[in-house]
Amino acid sequence: MSKEEEIANVATTQLDNNLAKAKPVKMGWSSKQVTEITKCLNALLANYSVHYQKLRSFHWNVKGSDFFDLHEKFELQYTEALMHIDAIAERIRIFGEAPLSSLKQYLHASEIKETSTELNSDLMVREMLSDYTILIKYMEEVVSICSHHTDSGTESMVKGYINKIEKHHWMFSAFLAR
Ligand SMILES: [Fe+2]
Repeated sequence: MSKEEEIANVATTQLDNNLAKAKPVKMGWSSKQVTEITKCLNALLANYSVHYQKLRSFHWNVKGSDFFDLHEKFELQYTEALMHIDAIAERIRIFGEAPLSSLKQYLHASEIKETSTELNSDLMVREMLSDYTILIKYMEEVVSICSHHTDSGTESMVKGYINKIEKHHWMFSAFLAR
């Protein structure tokens, strides 16, 4: 096959000339929509990251008769939090934006605050329940913005997190009700 024939045989594409040359091909959201979506994801990411470090601290510092129960439960919680945090940060990258990534940025942007390491076990659990309430508020904000912009990928991801956290909230509330 001659060079000319080879070129003539190139498959046609659904892209117009501009799109075919653009690199990368963008998803269908305007830059204003991308800013709104990634801004609320970054706010959630910052809160989740502070919450994650609190769970690690609780895992290390819990004392008393609940030690074996809570030491293990806090580990399960922070392991799940870590997976959610990673998916949220990568979702922001999918939109071509930068996830917040320094501890300084997280502490500055987070409504969830750090605590003393000297809390008794009930207070640790209460603190965790209060964090859940804050996290769910930020998640609902993400769901509301993403549904408004027809971003069902982010919406369904975060709805799954809400489901899980509401269940944790019930279980840890039951733990406190002894
Ligand atoms: Fe450990």
